Amino acid sequence: MTTRIHIADSSFASAPVAVPPSFPTSAASGLPLDEAPPALFDVPLPDIRELDVLKNAPTEARPVPAGASGAYYFLDGAAFSPSGIDVPVTRPEPGWGAFSAGQAIPGQAFDVYVIRRDFPVLAETVNGRPLVWLDNAATTQKPRAVIDRLAHFYARENSNIHRAAHELAARATDAYEAARETVRRFVNARSANEIVFVRGATEGINLVAQSWGRQNLRPGDEILITWLEHHANIVPWQQLATQSGAVLKVAPVDDRGDILLDEYAKLLGPKTRIVAFTQVSNALGTVTPAAEMTRLAHACGAKVLIDGAQSVSHLRTDVLALGCDWFMFSGHKVFGPTGIGALYGKEELLNATAPWQGGGNMIQDVTFERTLYQDAPARFEAGTGNIADAVGLGAALEYVERIGIDNIARHEHDLLLYGTRLLSEIPGLKIIGQAAEKAGVLSFVLAGRDTVAIGGALNKAGIAVRAGHHCAQPILRRFGLEATVRPSLALYNTHADLDALAAAVGKIARAGKTI
Ligand code: ALA
Repeated sequence: MTTRIHIADSSFASAPVAVPPSFPTSAASGLPLDEAPPALFDVPLPDIRELDVLKNAPTEARPVPAGASGAYYFLDGAAFSPSGIDVPVTRPEPGWGAFSAGQAIPGQAFDVYVIRRDFPVLAETVNGRPLVWLDNAATTQKPRAVIDRLAHFYARENSNIHRAAHELAARATDAYEAARETVRRFVNARSANEIVFVRGATEGINLVAQSWGRQNLRPGDEILITWLEHHANIVPWQQLATQSGAVLKVAPVDDRGDILLDEYAKLLGPKTRIVAFTQVSNALGTVTPAAEMTRLAHACGAKVLIDGAQSVSHLRTDVLALGCDWFMFSGHKVFGPTGIGALYGKEELLNATAPWQGGGNMIQDVTFERTLYQDAPARFEAGTGNIADAVGLGAALEYVERIGIDNIARHEHDLLLYGTRLLSEIPGLKIIGQAAEKAGVLSFVLAGRDTVAIGGALNKAGIAVRAGHHCAQPILRRFGLEATVRPSLALYNTHADLDALAAAVGKIARAGKTI
């Protein structure tokens, strides 16, 4: 059976480019007047404990493939460089340092320079320059609270969970289940039974497609996604359509990158069984009207899945207010470890869904004739999970709670306006994605310049951005592009980071054709 894709035929509304309002800046620094002009890249040196760790840590050069020359070997089409990559890798010892809560103090004014001290990697230099980390949509950096929590788990608590009658099993189980409760609180679910630990948003979406989807979809049923989706919210539905005979439909966006809500509503109908869409676009930064889209989908009887991978670190998450049936996110995009994330699902729905993977932990009783499953969340957590990283994710979310997601959103909004204004002033630069509501992303192209080359040139200046298709080819092609340069923001970014970015991009724009 082949996948059928129907893309709504609509005329796209063109909208004028939104120019952010100018706001007062100090003449000397170009920074807003209400922010004391910080020293450029005013990041702390490692403290004495870190220096000891670094001193004792083994270092090794990254192996470079034979015949390498030129750019980074892991980029598509990049050539290899025999001498290009010699960044030492440091390995902190397990158990280093005491568990710390970080320096951000609840109730105190948001001070980005205090917050930056919580993130050791921000003190790194790259190519002799202070690191400017603007690749947060790909992954976020980790505060000491998370790094220390992981070390504490392995130093004091490590055990398998739920299974053994010994002290460490109890400590590890308590830590793991406490992290589940933290996720519940963070997303505002009713019960911790509604929180399933998964590897990340991608696994969460695949879980829903391969469990609920295979159980419920029949030939002719419709799956509705939007043009904004990351490949992780496209491919699993194509696979499900192929397996079930369902039809995949795609709601269009306008020239700014906003969902065309009328077109979306027209695509909903009695055959629509599930709608899956992102809350924030990773390529454009569009914030979708998720609660309204959910309401419209429910009104025609469809289930709703929201991909929160790019929203959780920027916006308050409230699954009850959204009203969705499933919501998932990745821990590493919200200052937690890689390889861990969470799926929220309504409890009755999870318990009415057959598990997608079988094994230990998810069963009540097994004979050779039949198996009785546990209720959620265990029914979807077959095998030994990523226990330590789940605990680390809990520490990351507690860190965000201490700072306050509304403080973070306000800070990032200021940065987004400031960065948009600075970049818009660069000749030949076009910002891709001008949605009415945006979060975290400043995608752009520069006339006559290759995006990957821009990424490489920025790296030489110590500035990390993603350049390429961002695992979202359909939405870039909607704008006639195969790639953009994508600086993306997090709570620890500063106006000085954006000054450095704009200065480097401006230099590239003014340079000759080769960079
Ligand atoms: N989804 C990640 C990104 O947008 C990897 O870069």
